[in-house]
Amino acid sequence: MKYKSHKIALNFFTFAVLLFLVQVIVGVVAAIQFLKPDFFVFAFNISRTLHINALVVWLLCGLMGATYYVVPEESECELWSIPLAQFQFWATVVAVLGVVVGYIVMGLFPQSNIMIFGTLLLNEGREYIEAPRWADFLIAISAVLFLINNAMTMFKSKKWTGIQGTLLGGMLFLTLMYLPGMFYSSSMVKDQYWWWWVVHLWVEGAWEVIAGALLAFMLMKLTNAPRQALEKWMYIEVALVLFTGILGIGHHYYWIGTPSYWLWVGGIFSSLEPIPLLVMVWDALRITKDTRVNTNKLGLFLATAHAIFNFLGAGLWGVIHTLPSVNKWTHGTQITTAHGHLAFYGAYVLLIIAMVYISVPSMRGVKDYNMSRGYRSFWWQTVSMVMIVFTITGAGMVQTYMERLLGIDYVAVKNDFNSWFWIWRIIFGVTYLIGVLMFVVDYFKIGKEPVTVNAAAAAISESKA
Ligand code: HEM
Ligand code: HEM
Ligand SMILES: [Fe+2]
Repeated sequence: MKYKSHKIALNFFTFAVLLFLVQVIVGVVAAIQFLKPDFFVFAFNISRTLHINALVVWLLCGLMGATYYVVPEESECELWSIPLAQFQFWATVVAVLGVVVGYIVMGLFPQSNIMIFGTLLLNEGREYIEAPRWADFLIAISAVLFLINNAMTMFKSKKWTGIQGTLLGGMLFLTLMYLPGMFYSSSMVKDQYWWWWVVHLWVEGAWEVIAGALLAFMLMKLTNAPRQALEKWMYIEVALVLFTGILGIGHHYYWIGTPSYWLWVGGIFSSLEPIPLLVMVWDALRITKDTRVNTNKLGLFLATAHAIFNFLGAGLWGVIHTLPSVNKWTHGTQITTAHGHLAFYGAYVLLIIAMVYISVPSMRGVKDYNMSRGYRSFWWQTVSMVMIVFTITGAGMVQTYMERLLGIDYVAVKNDFNSWFWIWRIIFGVTYLIGVLMFVVDYFKIGKEPVTVNAAAAAISESKA
């Protein structure tokens, strides 16, 4: 290991990968509960909460792991304080496990979610950020310690690269945007208004800034493209993301009682949001085509797949329902869920997986590693995810038509007309789970197996060249 600090990055990745597995297992449970509500010891509300919270938390841990890898690499020195980073890691693990146990207890004994000091003890009940107030404080403290440590490392090394500056800026934005979710109002309108600051400004603001920085870093590591050229595109991407994403928040303000000017603000700016995502794809393809590749073919493949699926899931599946005239009909249906899945998968799940395959071999001290399971896992996950998205987009279209246009009851549509979609979602959920299992196994084996497969492939491509 080049830097002792990389141990922290590996810790965060390991925790993230295990939570990923939990997320997908409870996702399958939630999918089965669409057909059989009594299928599990706790009900759908708890499996859904666990599914989306585990998702958000493992992605956050993955982003932290990625940062703890990138910052020592870019600064060319150890972290400012390794013990502080270690403390931050363990504090995060304890807080997250505490929250998870709380959700499960609440699932088993719903009355246990009591009011204490004016807030709820186990679950605040606001989608994606259900974590109770005590956990919010721990999470905020953990994020501040993380920021201080990385900022001090850059300060100490005096190596201000654009990539790490942008990464840190994105992380600061992310931390600040957690705060509006820490208070609530008895007015539903005000409450939802601020809640969206966290949910939207995270995934369509701060996280995309971080993704832009990590994409530039990955392309730099994998190709011999010059840093200046990559950083120039990164600044353009980030500026466009912020310009379109910040006002794009209007696409959530259509029907919650906010003033009607949000209809056109949200409609116009959020329709522009796919543009920076398309620029990212173009950037990735241009760099990988023009500059010769190093040995980590899988890493480069995944980084490019991330850029493409970020565009498809966030951009394309976002823009189809973002205009007020469409959203009026599709709001809160399975169309939204379909977009939520493909966007998170493309933009962030693939981003972390790509970072894992790019950083873990070097952290484990190997140049080459066996890539075959990694490719197989990618295809199992990607084909299954695309099929899940197709099934629920279909369910959403049926739902929109029957419920919103024909006025048939919500439960009747769900039970009588959409069952086949739910069955297919379960089937592809299980195949998705198989893909994740392969990834988890591979994560623990990267760099520890013989690399005969790649060596043979490299020999063939060299002889062709
Ligand atoms: C990586 C980026 C993105 C992620 C992870 C993401 C994820 C999500 C998720 C999970 C929801 C559902 C929220 C809820 O529970 O109500 C949602 C809603 C929505 N997203 Fe995105 N999204 C992204 C980018 C975009 C973009 C670029 C657009 C537009 C071009 C967009 C348009 C929408 C709209 C219009 C809704 C509201 C749907 C409704 O009214 O029910 N999203 N997004
Ligand atoms: C990495 C892969 C996955 C990601 C990124 C993901 C993401 C999400 C998100 C963001 C939501 C909330 C959607 C919304 O409110 O609009 C959600 C809900 C859900 N997910 Fe997943 N998920 C994944 C895998 C799975 C799998 C494999 C299954 C099993 C089939 C599954 C089943 C569900 C179910 C049943 C819901 C609740 C939908 C509803 O309330 O209507 N997910 N997931
Ligand atoms: Fe949004």
